[in-house]
Amino acid sequence: MKIEIGKDFPKFFKPLYQEEFELFSHFETTAGIPTVLFAITTWKENGKPNVCFHSWSCFHGDKTAFFAVMGNLYQHTHTYTNIQREKCFCINFLPISYYDKLIDTIHQNDLETDEFEVGNFTLSQANVIHAPIIQEAFINMECTLKEVQDLSGAGITAMIIGKVEHISVDEKYAQGYERYGKDGFMMLIPAPQNILTGEPNQSAIASVNIEKYD
Ligand SMILES: Cc1cc2nc3c(=O)[nH]c(=O)nc-3n(C[C@H](O)[C@H](O)[C@H](O)COP(=O)(O)O)c2cc1C
Repeated sequence: MKIEIGKDFPKFFKPLYQEEFELFSHFETTAGIPTVLFAITTWKENGKPNVCFHSWSCFHGDKTAFFAVMGNLYQHTHTYTNIQREKCFCINFLPISYYDKLIDTIHQNDLETDEFEVGNFTLSQANVIHAPIIQEAFINMECTLKEVQDLSGAGITAMIIGKVEHISVDEKYAQGYERYGKDGFMMLIPAPQNILTGEPNQSAIASVNIEKYD
């Protein structure tokens, strides 16, 4: 038997915190699909470096180009404004050990704040775009802005598509499978709802556990 959830908000879904379903679709917690967590780095208008902890994205391309599709960036963020102005951004993949530092950059987020200082991150210049990069990241992905689209049309979030122009990989992660497990990609499991009772669950932070090789 399948439990059917439609586009009308299921009245028995309880939020984990008051504004949960003001921020997120009930389909997000119905499915609970994991996506990779990373930091977007950009320059603020005043020249201070900005860090935005982010997820809700995918990465793919064909032989001619590779894209970072950030499906759901809030339009009220500095990052959204910075990307529109600079037409570029860097994506920095960090392991779970940096989670708390990345959360600090959410709580100290003023225009005047140097968010690299807040996170205790080492700033380097990107290779081919005008953006700061986090030296501690095991992969830095430099992107130019390809497209912005407000998928829902509600003026709340936007899909930002970046064309990947350059990738830097830490030599300690260069042989392949160091990029998984607890020192590798950090994943977000977004608050999977109990579909039977409507009870909420917390979000979880996960790593990738390899089950099989192909
Ligand atoms: C795991 C996770 C937790 C987040 N928690 C919050 C939060 O509590 N409050 C919030 O406004 N944004 C949260 N965000 C979204 C952005 O990280 C946050 O809005 C960010 O500080 C925007 O940065 P900017 O304005 O410098 O671009 C979260 C993102 C992730 C991936």
